[in-house]
Amino acid sequence: MNIDEQYREQLLSSIDDDALVWIREKSMEYIRLMSYYRCAMMEIETKFKVLREEYSFVHDRNPINSITTRLKSPMSIKEKMERLGCEPTVDNIEEKLNDVAGVRVICAFKDDVYALADALLKQDDVVLIETKDYIKNPKENGYRSLHMIVSIPIYLAHTKREMKVEVQIRTIAMDSWASLEHQLVYKKDVELTEEMHAELDECANLSAALDEKMNNLRKSLFEKKCILK
Ligand code: GTP
Ligand code: MG
Repeated sequence: MNIDEQYREQLLSSIDDDALVWIREKSMEYIRLMSYYRCAMMEIETKFKVLREEYSFVHDRNPINSITTRLKSPMSIKEKMERLGCEPTVDNIEEKLNDVAGVRVICAFKDDVYALADALLKQDDVVLIETKDYIKNPKENGYRSLHMIVSIPIYLAHTKREMKVEVQIRTIAMDSWASLEHQLVYKKDVELTEEMHAELDECANLSAALDEKMNNLRKSLFEKKCILK
């Protein structure tokens, strides 16, 4: 028997009934927490769907191209907790992580990004915890997007719970840059040359210029009363 097998045997024989109950309880706590985050994502997703419905009706156009949701995977949660130097307990996960639940909204125009953020934050039950405006202050690599951490209540049978959700709102052009950059470099151990950095930044600037032109075009058409808003 090699050392790994011996260790496995030892570990397995030490898992008695009490330990099994404890492991089961812990995993149930984790699954319950993830279920609360799923509920919070559903709440935020519905809020954006309602805004889209109203916008389409009042302005006769759809500012939202897509809404996607994602729950952070157990491995990413574990890695991030290690990075923060915290034990990955259920309480710590809830306290330390802001991005277990994520909602991404892709908009048509830059003005829509801020209009939707304002409309969400105006709602009575939404509390803003943190904003990172990477549109006004793009990241060094050129990344643009509006990030907000919000807290919203979820209503359970006997109680109400405040849950945090990371909301990312960006335009189609910002999203296409971010998706491509994500495939190429984001969080990969890729060494980019200075030239490559400059190329990525230039692509980000081209996409920002496209957004600016399309946004201005939309404003001009609105001023000429060709569109409702
Ligand atoms: P994480 O540890 O990744 O959550 O980053 P953070 O806590 O510093 O938060 P930040 O708001 O900067 O980024 C959160 C999320 O935004 C990431 O998980 C990505 O989805 C996205 N993001 C941030 N920076 C970049 C970037 O440079 N490129 C791409 N493609 N996406 C990014
Ligand atoms: Mg994250």
